[in-house]
Amino acid sequence: MVEGLSAPQSAAAGVNQTEPLLSCRGVSKYFGAMAAVKDFSFDLARGEVLGIGGPNGAGKTTVFEVISGFNPADRGTVLLEGRPIERLPSHAICHLGIARMFQSNAGFDTLSAEQNVLVAAAFGHAPRLIPPLTYGADIRRAADEALDFVGFRRARSTEVRGLPALDRKLLMIASALATKPKILMMDEPVGGLNLEEIEQLMALVRKLVAAGITIMLIEHVMRFLVQLSTRVMIMNHGEKIYEGTPAGLAQDETVTRVYLGERMSKRIVAYSAGVGPQ
Ligand SMILES: Nc1ncnc2c1ncn2[C@@H]1O[C@H](COP(=O)(O)OP(=O)(O)O)[C@@H](O)[C@H]1O
Ligand SMILES: [Mg+2]
Repeated sequence: MVEGLSAPQSAAAGVNQTEPLLSCRGVSKYFGAMAAVKDFSFDLARGEVLGIGGPNGAGKTTVFEVISGFNPADRGTVLLEGRPIERLPSHAICHLGIARMFQSNAGFDTLSAEQNVLVAAAFGHAPRLIPPLTYGADIRRAADEALDFVGFRRARSTEVRGLPALDRKLLMIASALATKPKILMMDEPVGGLNLEEIEQLMALVRKLVAAGITIMLIEHVMRFLVQLSTRVMIMNHGEKIYEGTPAGLAQDETVTRVYLGERMSKRIVAYSAGVGPQ
């Protein structure tokens, strides 16, 4: 356990360590006649970093929408520790331990950074019938720990809408952490960041894993995806076209043809050896 972050829920006693933490079984999601996700299945084990790649429009974000309950599946089931969650509302799914980041910056723009994380700590961890009038010591501690953990360096009283891209990402991660998740779903977390900032986020993802949080990671920046993921899935037209090791991507002809291209496939070899240019 990393100092400065209370135990995530997965560290609780009595958890069956052999069953998948999360399973999707035959999930389909339609928008009108178009299947954004088709008969999609996978398991997520505790402690994994499961990378998801694929062209724009492949259905990656829709998988997150379905799991998090923002946009429920039309068919199929989603099991969290063996329990079906696909009909639960998004706040209930968050309370059960699945937090997500959004592809674009999400947050309460006119509140301060600290207030954003306080809201997440107060409402994202447990059901509340009556909203609190003030934040108690436990809520304040959870918010402080989350901001410390991500290394948020700006004044916590800063209004969120003026923050630069990296700080917005860190704030989204801190807000997710304040809900004490078992699983954190990150949707293109390094989009719009420079090389140095990407390194910073790589270090943060490793720190999250060391703290016992299981990660699902959508990313187009292949070095980030390959070097962080323990396993990778590639999607195309709503279907899984690859599931395996990051290094195996370079050998897969379909992945090279529909997504990576020859040049990037060659780079994957260097990335998976832990070296190589951006
Ligand atoms: N709310 C929506 N309404 C209609 N179509 C959508 C909606 N969300 C996504 N889509 C469509 O579903 C497909 C998959 O989108 P998405 O999951 O966002 O892809 P990705 O994240 O892989 O780029 C795309 O064709 C997209 O236009
Ligand atoms: Mg997307």
